[in-house]
Amino acid sequence: MHKKIENIKNQAKKEIEQCLDLKSLENLKIKYLGRKGEVSSILRSLTSLSVEDKRTIGPKAQSLKNEIDIFIKTKIRNLLDKKRTPIIDITTPGKKIKTGHLHPLTIIGKEIIEIFKNMGFSVCDGGPEIENEYYNFDALNIPKNHPAREMHDTFWVKKSSNPSKGINDNLLLRTHTSPMQIRYMEKHNPPFRIIVPGRVFRYEATDASHEINFNHIECLMVGEDVNFSNFKYIVQEFFNKLFSIRKRSSSKNKKINIRYRPSYFPFVEPGLEIDIQCVKCGGKGCNICAGSGWLEVMGAGMVHPNVLKAVGYNPKKYQGFAFGVGTERIAMLKYNIPDIRMFYDGDLRFINQF
Ligand code: DAH
Repeated sequence: MHKKIENIKNQAKKEIEQCLDLKSLENLKIKYLGRKGEVSSILRSLTSLSVEDKRTIGPKAQSLKNEIDIFIKTKIRNLLDKKRTPIIDITTPGKKIKTGHLHPLTIIGKEIIEIFKNMGFSVCDGGPEIENEYYNFDALNIPKNHPAREMHDTFWVKKSSNPSKGINDNLLLRTHTSPMQIRYMEKHNPPFRIIVPGRVFRYEATDASHEINFNHIECLMVGEDVNFSNFKYIVQEFFNKLFSIRKRSSSKNKKINIRYRPSYFPFVEPGLEIDIQCVKCGGKGCNICAGSGWLEVMGAGMVHPNVLKAVGYNPKKYQGFAFGVGTERIAMLKYNIPDIRMFYDGDLRFINQF
């Protein structure tokens, strides 16, 4: 009898486990626990047993009934769980997925590149940040001991122990992206139009408008008949587009007023500085433009014949224009950022606003 009970239990357990639907489970329930089922017949047969056997087998038979009952209930729950499809409430609002932010300098850099690409310019990336004195100064018509060098507070790196063929190769962290004019022209022939975004360094005290590390975008267009009118058109287009790119608004251009002031940069002649009418006050005078109504934004000019000669171009045949613009300066004006150091603080409260 002990053996029989054990067998029924194992058999029932196995069959219940293998059962795949509620209908066959119901049949198993009848088979084992039903009035004419196997467990009931055992319980019924207890009456014919001796008192001694009743005492040992009785509880076993009873617990067999309970155990099979539990097997069945557990199985019912499993089958129901499997059947239950998850309830999706399609009216619940979606969860906002947090995305990262582009740094404002990346955003403005992309915008500037896009504007120039649309005007047929190639983007010339790279160029060494550790530059040599020849490219940073000499080839750009800034000879040694020339006062113009003092405008560039330079981080000198290290004297090279291997000076190459008469070229001055004292190393420095480039103070502007203009050396890329030379590097590009050495390898390419006109006509061409390029912009060169890049990081530059100046050895100076930091404050709200000065950093030791910042970004410039250099522009250079050279050809047989590239003239100052071409330059004015490109600059006007650039500022019109740059200050009318607004998120979610129409990209209708507005006209930015531009002022050309004579200035001096050794690598251009004539050299000029370019101001735009204050984007905040529209020229009335405010704290951003220090009351003048104008903002100084770039240095520019027609490429100096000496620069063209330095790269082996014939200055009688070719001419061109160049300008350099500070990326941070433009971003500060466009996004109304009061302090250049904010770009490099890594403060998410600042970056998350873009
Ligand atoms: N490289 C100059 C600077 O760092 C900016 C500049 C002025 C670039 C005139 C030019 C230019 O290409 O023609 O201040």
